[in-house]
Amino acid sequence: MSWTRYGHLLGPMLLERRPRYCVEVGAWLGNSSIMFAETIAQWGGTLICVDHWQGSPDFARHPFMAAQLSTAEATFRARIRGHENVVVLKMASVDAAQRCAGAEFIYIDASHEEADVRADLAAWGVALAAGGLMAGDDYGDSEFPGVTAAWDDVPGVHYSKGKGQWGLVWVERKL
Ligand SMILES: C[S@@+](CC[C@H](N)C(=O)[O-])C[C@H]1O[C@@H](n2cnc3c(N)ncnc32)[C@H](O)[C@@H]1O
Repeated sequence: MSWTRYGHLLGPMLLERRPRYCVEVGAWLGNSSIMFAETIAQWGGTLICVDHWQGSPDFARHPFMAAQLSTAEATFRARIRGHENVVVLKMASVDAAQRCAGAEFIYIDASHEEADVRADLAAWGVALAAGGLMAGDDYGDSEFPGVTAAWDDVPGVHYSKGKGQWGLVWVERKL
């Protein structure tokens, strides 16, 4: 799915919180990166874009994604040129999480395999600041049951849940 599908939900959530330290996990061609970068630039926010540009296991079911793999990183870098508030971390998601302690907003849209989403949620949950917002894409999509299962198991003891619609899911880290 894409940001545009639920921008009317996520946009106001960001506007209300005005997070300055933001992370996107899974940048691909930069479509969502640009949306986030331009939104948070309004209040001086910085976006860390994490991707290894090796694609995702689920790309095997999406030949049009696999076909763009060899040029995806170059396309991303060309598209974010001029967005001064974007920092790129080209590395595996869980490794990047160790460098991003205190992030106020984290958007997860990397691998959609259940084990990978669980690993991302665990690693990025540690990085998320108290009171911070963690959101993800493709929740409730029958094509990605592992995404829904992993998000459903986010422990309520640490997060208040705010399940969304149109594929958006989010939780807030308790203080
Ligand atoms: C669905 S695409 C992201 C789409 C993008 N957020 C958008 O809406 O336009 C998933 C991206 O996650 C990256 N990715 C998958 N698993 C990853 C991992 N373990 N570490 C880093 N990047 C990963 C892939 O290389 C791919 O670029």
